[in-house]
Amino acid sequence: MGRSCFPRCKLTRIMGFLQIILGGMVILVSILSLVRFYYAGFFFNNSDLCHSFYNSKEVFEGFDTKSLSARVEEVLEKFETLQAKLETKSQEMEKDKAIILDKKYLEEEILKPLHASNVALRLIRLPKSEGIRNDSAIKEDPLINFFITEEIRKYITPKENREEVKLNAFGSERVYNTIGHACVLHKKDLEQYMDYDIGSYCDDDWNLAQKLMLNGCDPLPRRRCLTRASKVYQKPYPINESLWKLPDDRNVRWGNYQCRNFHCLSSKNPKRGYSKCVGCFEMEREKLKWVTNSSVLADFQITDVLSIKPGEIRIGLDFGIGTGTFAARMREHNVTIVTTALNLGAPFNEMIALRGLIPLYVTLNQRLPLFDNTMDLIHTGGFLDGWIDLLLLDFVLYDWDRILRPGGLLWIDRFFCSKKDLDDYVYMFLQLRYKKHKWAISPKSKDEVYLSALLEKPPRAI
Ligand SMILES: *[C@@H]1O[C@H](CO)[C@@H](O)[C@H](O)[C@H]1NC(C)=O
Ligand SMILES: *[C@@H]1O[C@H](CO)[C@@H](O)[C@H](O)[C@H]1NC(C)=O
Ligand SMILES: *[C@@H]1O[C@H](CO)[C@@H](O)[C@H](O)[C@H]1NC(C)=O
Ligand SMILES: *[C@@H]1O[C@H](CO)[C@@H](O)[C@H](O)[C@H]1NC(C)=O
Repeated sequence: MGRSCFPRCKLTRIMGFLQIILGGMVILVSILSLVRFYYAGFFFNNSDLCHSFYNSKEVFEGFDTKSLSARVEEVLEKFETLQAKLETKSQEMEKDKAIILDKKYLEEEILKPLHASNVALRLIRLPKSEGIRNDSAIKEDPLINFFITEEIRKYITPKENREEVKLNAFGSERVYNTIGHACVLHKKDLEQYMDYDIGSYCDDDWNLAQKLMLNGCDPLPRRRCLTRASKVYQKPYPINESLWKLPDDRNVRWGNYQCRNFHCLSSKNPKRGYSKCVGCFEMEREKLKWVTNSSVLADFQITDVLSIKPGEIRIGLDFGIGTGTFAARMREHNVTIVTTALNLGAPFNEMIALRGLIPLYVTLNQRLPLFDNTMDLIHTGGFLDGWIDLLLLDFVLYDWDRILRPGGLLWIDRFFCSKKDLDDYVYMFLQLRYKKHKWAISPKSKDEVYLSALLEKPPRAI
């Protein structure tokens, strides 16, 4: 008897308990909002209240009344649906005794929404403001009134330190979540990107995010939704196998690619969906890079490069487009390389990571997230070539110079351009007065040439 009654009795008990909690919260929220509206003067005909859109902050005793009223609506709605759901479920269960209240149902349908509501209520509270603000003295935060989407405004509002902490761990009074200023040019895309239910699953929209980044909206805002993963993620291969093996197809979400598996990315397939680094997903080809004698004079071998500074090259950056083969080879020499990667039509980031190497998801727009004078080596090849504007290249080279340590090596690998532009580019590469260890120019086609160089950053004792 006790056994057959168990799920139903338990549900009834949970239901009763939940209803008490929900009822209590509804009353609490109602009272809170009423009180806030009262104090904020909504019941007096105070026209001054409405004279500014955001600057007045509408903050009272730590509450943001505007946000509060919006949130209260949202939370109440959630509670309503939750209650309805519970009621139908319990009716169902009364009819059909066979239904088993399993753990998953409880977690997915009841506990998670309840938790989300709870978090939403907690977030209404903003850091304490310094009493009533003097309107004329408030400095407007940049861009804040440019956007209408509430989540973007929340994102870019400076976050004051909590409680009495005047300066935080970074020595600042508040944290600015920034968005690249070019975001304003892509308002529609950015608003789509930031349009989600907090705490729920994000759309499978990494390609929208990447489009924004490539168009200068970089760094992108962080989001408060859960990123989707492959339905059938398998544990990766062990490192002694993963370096030189195509990963398991099931570990990638293929929805936004033309291909649906790694073999489809082969250079033999005309419909592979990407055009940079063709052949990079063929391990037999990749295994030959930087270790075998090549017919191209501009190809250097890893052992030759490392023998210039035996034992000194330990960490570095591979800036280019590829599947991490340079980092894999260097790993065999006990050198740790971080590889930059963008998913330009193929899962380059996933591939590198599944090989057991570190992909760094950065564009050319950004200052590199590495400190001055830290890297032993920068290797670059594959996408910096004859299309690049000279001034842009200048900024990029100075940034590389910044992160390279004195005595560090800059390996320019198969940079290519048309013959007539070569002098300009050579000037750019040599202007920093690096020591030339290797320098090779070889023809690519009738009008184009390859340039490879191995340069050493000089000491800078100023
Ligand atoms: C507000 O600031 C302005 C100028 O900064 C000042 O003239 C005015 O007296 C201030 N008002 C109050 C109530 O502090
Ligand atoms: C990789 O290492 C594991 C144990 O560390 C071993 O069982 C496996 O045979 C190795 N695989 C290869 C291909 O050497
Ligand atoms: C590459 O070429 C050099 C000289 O041409 C030769 O000494 C070396 O053995 C070759 N290495 C391989 C792996 O074929
Ligand atoms: C890398 O390090 C391991 C362990 O210290 C060592 O056994 C191996 O010989 C090193 N490989 C190279 C190429 O230096």
